[in-house]
Amino acid sequence: MMPTLIMNWPAGEQLVHFDKNETLLSAALKAGIPVENSCQRGDCQRCIGVVRQGSARISGSDETIGPGGSLLLCQVKSSSDIEIELAHDPNEILPPPKLYQAKIIGLERLASDVIRLEMVTPKRQYLDYIGGQYIDLIRHGIIRYHGYVDDMPALLRSVDAVVLPSSYPEGIPKIFLEAAACGLPIISTDFPGARRVIEDGVTGVIIKSPTVDYIETAILALYNQPDRGRQMGEKALVLTSGSVLGD
Ligand code: FES
Repeated sequence: MMPTLIMNWPAGEQLVHFDKNETLLSAALKAGIPVENSCQRGDCQRCIGVVRQGSARISGSDETIGPGGSLLLCQVKSSSDIEIELAHDPNEILPPPKLYQAKIIGLERLASDVIRLEMVTPKRQYLDYIGGQYIDLIRHGIIRYHGYVDDMPALLRSVDAVVLPSSYPEGIPKIFLEAAACGLPIISTDFPGARRVIEDGVTGVIIKSPTVDYIETAILALYNQPDRGRQMGEKALVLTSGSVLGD
């Protein structure tokens, strides 16, 4: 018989049967519980919970976490019944699902975990949305909407690049400094502030305009050459620790 996971949060409780070979995060997401998560590899600390009853084993080790211990749901499995308490109500983190009429006019798999979806909606359809949230609800884990983030270093440690396709002239966006200080390459449009941080092809990529094609090409170029992205990130890190930006 499959073990049972009981997820508790301030405004609710849900019971899930799971396979002992899957992580508790995977079991929760499969059951439709939108547990906050991002990296799914133990870096971002978004999927934290506390064991109320039972125990869980950290994947790839013999270490177990029992009642009162906190754990990252993406990093643990369990072979017996377990009860976990989440600090936040998952239904408050992501808005409840809504159905919209739409016609899909293009669906392309750009990489193993990246899809591009094009759709049109009726002319008067009012779409008030934050990029990613609807697709996230349908295809858990492919696009993740983070909501408010107060631990930027943890978030930035979980990504490979930062993309800011701004469409107007800006100063130096703070996210550029945060990204460079975390050793990440930056992809951005060409505006004065971008030129102060990004040396095209050295610490990041400057694209001509914020269109899907330019953004896609730049992201895929780094995705397909991870070493190049890492080298750019290292150079960006040197930039923030030197005097270049302080001049
Ligand atoms: S999703 Fe679990 S630590 Fe990032």
